[in-house]
Amino acid sequence: MPKSKSLFDVADAKKRYADLVKEISQHDVLYHQKDKPKISDADYDALRRELEALEAEHPEFVRADSPSQKVGAAVASGFKKATHNVPMLSLSNAFADEDVTDFFDRVRRFLNLGEAEEVAVVAEPKIDGLSCSLRYEDGRLVRAATRGDGATGEDITANVLTIADVPQILKGRPPAVLEVRGEVYMRRDEFRAMNERQEAAGKPAFANPRNAAAGSVRQLDSAVTAERPLHFFGYALGEFSENFAESQSDIRKKLKSFGFIAAEPSTVCKSAEEVLAYYRAIGVQRPDLDYDIDGVVYKIDRLDWQERLGFVSRAPRWAIAHKFPAQQAVTILNDILVQVGRTGTLTPVAELEPITVGGVVVSRATLHNQDEIERKDVRVGDHVVIQRAGDVIPQIVSVVMEKRKPGARKFNMPETCPVCGSHAVREEGEVALRCTGGLICGAQAVERLKHFVSRNAFDIEGLGDKIITEFWNEGLIKTPGDIFRLEEKDRQSIAQLKNREGWGDLSVANLYKSIESRRVIGLERFIYALGIRQVGEATAKKLAANYGTFENWMAMMQTALQEPEGEAYTDLLSIEDIGPSVAGDVLAFFEEKHNLDVLQDLGRELTINPYVLPKAGNTPVAGKTVVFTGTLAQMTRGEAKARAETLGAKVAGSVSKKTDYVVAGEDAGSKLKDARALGVTVLSEQEWLDLIGVA
Ligand code: IVH
Repeated sequence: MPKSKSLFDVADAKKRYADLVKEISQHDVLYHQKDKPKISDADYDALRRELEALEAEHPEFVRADSPSQKVGAAVASGFKKATHNVPMLSLSNAFADEDVTDFFDRVRRFLNLGEAEEVAVVAEPKIDGLSCSLRYEDGRLVRAATRGDGATGEDITANVLTIADVPQILKGRPPAVLEVRGEVYMRRDEFRAMNERQEAAGKPAFANPRNAAAGSVRQLDSAVTAERPLHFFGYALGEFSENFAESQSDIRKKLKSFGFIAAEPSTVCKSAEEVLAYYRAIGVQRPDLDYDIDGVVYKIDRLDWQERLGFVSRAPRWAIAHKFPAQQAVTILNDILVQVGRTGTLTPVAELEPITVGGVVVSRATLHNQDEIERKDVRVGDHVVIQRAGDVIPQIVSVVMEKRKPGARKFNMPETCPVCGSHAVREEGEVALRCTGGLICGAQAVERLKHFVSRNAFDIEGLGDKIITEFWNEGLIKTPGDIFRLEEKDRQSIAQLKNREGWGDLSVANLYKSIESRRVIGLERFIYALGIRQVGEATAKKLAANYGTFENWMAMMQTALQEPEGEAYTDLLSIEDIGPSVAGDVLAFFEEKHNLDVLQDLGRELTINPYVLPKAGNTPVAGKTVVFTGTLAQMTRGEAKARAETLGAKVAGSVSKKTDYVVAGEDAGSKLKDARALGVTVLSEQEWLDLIGVA
């Protein structure tokens, strides 16, 4: 049985937590908006620390309106929106040396490079600040924007104009339109001095230079920003009207000639070995640098290669962030609990004696599964080494065997679900145990709801994990559709949200507002939100792109179920990356009556917008379905596919009547035959390149 604290302890902690959220929020308003703090910085810090400790101990308490959730988030809605014509991306991460060699291998494979070909990368420090995009027109700064969600950020021009490192007029001869991307940051020494001044003025101190930079840039009053010691490094480009550089190293040089400062030390490396040597050298220099860095970044030097490599979801294939090692600490494993996930997976979770690792209090770590527990021989009561890296969930690295108490008992995963008591089974080929309770399992239902409202799904602000759990327990929200009837229930005074502990008129009104704003949703997000097994964001998008509308998708899935070998099923399988296993999970979802009920119910509550093809409307292949087959001479299949998708085409895995083009390379086999039989246009590789306008 999972161990639990005394109910009284938990209730007390919860009450204290609610009080703290309220109190800190009031101080935040006094400080940020009224500029009239009532308590000293030290007192404020003490409150924040207490809140953070409680949240670490009780992650289930954390509320969307908690001050801890607002760090780095928009202070207010007072900023104008700023759209990025060229999306602002993030970087994928490497931690181990192999991740770096993998990166080089991937690039080589993608570009089909011969052994003799050298791959040069620019290596530079990864600054721990706030990314920002500066737009220059005719050499004059016209807009500065935060990254936001990558597509739309906040217009922070007035604030950025106060940063001395940011040129307002560019030197030299820059292109007419030039967007410079870089990082706003604070130097360590200036950060310390500023915090001392804050303290002397009775204002709260910032936790670290990154938070300080982010908080300063997001001030609604730019006079406040002007007093903060902010700096800027330029490291990449957004939109530009004219090519002016040949390589990434050239971009660095040109940016400097326009008046920007670039992060140092930087170097061009020609192999994975050189890159790793640079990484180690920077690791040694790290404590002596003027500013915080959390790793280094490698960018393929050749811009024509960068262009060919393109992007995958939100990160470029041509760059990678090599993070510094996870921070480790030793603590005691107090207990092992078993959590039940959305699809019924049982995961053992270590309950730890809370400990600070790299500035964050850690009280839980995942143990993955029984195999993992046995491999590391982890037992309750052990001293364990835990580690955190980036935002990843903390892991248990190993057990400190010398400290093991005699008789420490081994842990075994239960045979039944700890929540609903149904049998737990291990499916063939899987390591994880799964609860077979399905609908009757409360844990699965709650996890599905949490997924439904999560950030990349319906993104309903104010419905955090803890609130979902509470509402589910009380029967206020049992199915996704119930979320959209909450206000109506409240009006009939069934729910009475505003009388709940920690809730007031304003928070209730905000919750209803965020729910209402989500009644209209795009098909891909909707599909992702359903939480079908194996259907993550990428697959959801592919399904949406293939079926276009919610109604069509529903109809096609039902037809596919009725005619197991029929056209609708073949069509599903023809979607790139959807094989029999994923298709099976998608159809299994439609086979369950309760899922159909949920869909119908949601269909009544929502407007589900048809899928819109990404902005690439004017290319000759936008909206066309293409199949690549055989060996291509000028690029790899992966590159061909990525390029076609960038141009708005759909890439399918098999040929059907819906296929517009089959691009046949050397030794094309059955797909070419299918194309001929169905009368689909067949193109040679060169004809395809001509069509998409590649010289
Ligand atoms: S290059 C296409 N270079 O790290 C993205 N990014 O974790 C090009 N960052 O979003 C980014 N230092 O905000 C680049 N020297 C550097 C960087 C850097 C910090 C940030 C950037 C990015 C984030 C990803």
